[in-house]
Amino acid sequence: AHGLFTYDPGFVSTASCDSKITYIDGGKGVLLHRGYPIEQLAENSDYLELCYLLLNGELPDAAESERFESTIRRHTMVHEQLTQFYKGFRRDAHPMAILCGVVGALSAFYHDSLDINDPHDREVSAYRLIAKMPTMAAMSYKYSVGQPFMYPRNDMSYAENFLYMMFATPCEDYKPNPVLAKAMDRIFMLHADHEQNASTSTVRLAGSTGANPFACIAAGIAALWGPSHGGANEAVLNMLDEIGDDSEENIQRFIQRAKDKDDPFKLMGFGHRVYRNFDPRAKVMKKTCDEVLKELNRSDDPQLHIAKRLEEIALEDEYFIERKLYPNVDFYSGIILKAIGIPTNMFTVIFAMSRTIGWISHWNEMISGEYKIGRPRQLYQGHETRDYPKK
Ligand code: SDX
Repeated sequence: AHGLFTYDPGFVSTASCDSKITYIDGGKGVLLHRGYPIEQLAENSDYLELCYLLLNGELPDAAESERFESTIRRHTMVHEQLTQFYKGFRRDAHPMAILCGVVGALSAFYHDSLDINDPHDREVSAYRLIAKMPTMAAMSYKYSVGQPFMYPRNDMSYAENFLYMMFATPCEDYKPNPVLAKAMDRIFMLHADHEQNASTSTVRLAGSTGANPFACIAAGIAALWGPSHGGANEAVLNMLDEIGDDSEENIQRFIQRAKDKDDPFKLMGFGHRVYRNFDPRAKVMKKTCDEVLKELNRSDDPQLHIAKRLEEIALEDEYFIERKLYPNVDFYSGIILKAIGIPTNMFTVIFAMSRTIGWISHWNEMISGEYKIGRPRQLYQGHETRDYPKK
């Protein structure tokens, strides 16, 4: 309470209400998608099957899976006119800035033909977003390096197609390495959904006003961009570059800096708002990182050595133990993406691509049920009522 103005603690923004999609137990390091543990999904499923599960609540049978995947394939191309939109950006524009603009622009192509209260229209919007995100993401990369856009290849898997659109050119074909494609698909899966984190809550709040799904996803992309959230994977690589020398003395020096309140250096990829135990996604990511670097004969990568030493030291250091700081999903993902050849300014774009299914599943869950506009209140800290001074 603040003088005349009282804050009703019972008020909850109705946009961030209950959900059946994802369960997290931060104390035990548990992450379930529609009841299935992330570790089992990462081992046995793939990203498109996980998309179906998050959106529909159950795993697809063979026929449902085939129908879903062929529908996604039919929507991978973007309207040819959307390619003009890219040409308005400077070549050195950050790919997240481009993606945020282009996804919002999808509203201009589909808004008039979309009734968010029609389950079929909501389903088609979800399919369009799942299908087009890799195409638009790869286009934002191609534009930044001055290469022509590559059209999607529907004879490839979701992850293979993304890598193809990123690295193939009209002069040179690109056959994705199956180990790298599998690692890419696993990165998509591990970032797919995470309950009501900052960007998902943004999508829910925007959606609670009745805004169209493309505008809501653009709002989610904007929220994800921050270094405390989805921008952390890019920040981890910048941190590893800053540490540079993988000698024990140098690594110890940076660990001390991370504990120094007056030092802006933080261990990016460490800590989490919810997990006060290991982030289960980080364990799977670390295993995938080892597989990729082994496949590329780069197990002696100095940045991997630095990351592993940072983790080992932090897990035994009371500063981190007291504060329950463990590696999170972003700690190893950047090393994998860099090894695959993806530039750091594309890392958060890949997080946004992966999280699109989480965002659109939460949006769909809210819109298909009872909901009201979200309206968080505040703790007013300003002046009490006062009169305007007489002239
Ligand atoms: C994601 O919400 C989600 O689900 C997000 C996400 C998802 O899938 O959507 O999981 C994705 O965003 C993962 C997080 C990625 N961010 C980073 O890796 C950035 C580095 N981490 C920190 O910014 C921080 O840990 C946060 C933002 C992630 C969490 O911050 P909290 O829970 O608010 O913790 P805090 O700021 O209250 O810190 C508690 C203490 C503080 O020290 P004291 O003031 O108590 O002495 O821990 C310290 C902090 O200074 N601390 C760190 C630290 N993170 C927290 N110290 C050094 N290095 C760090 N990384």
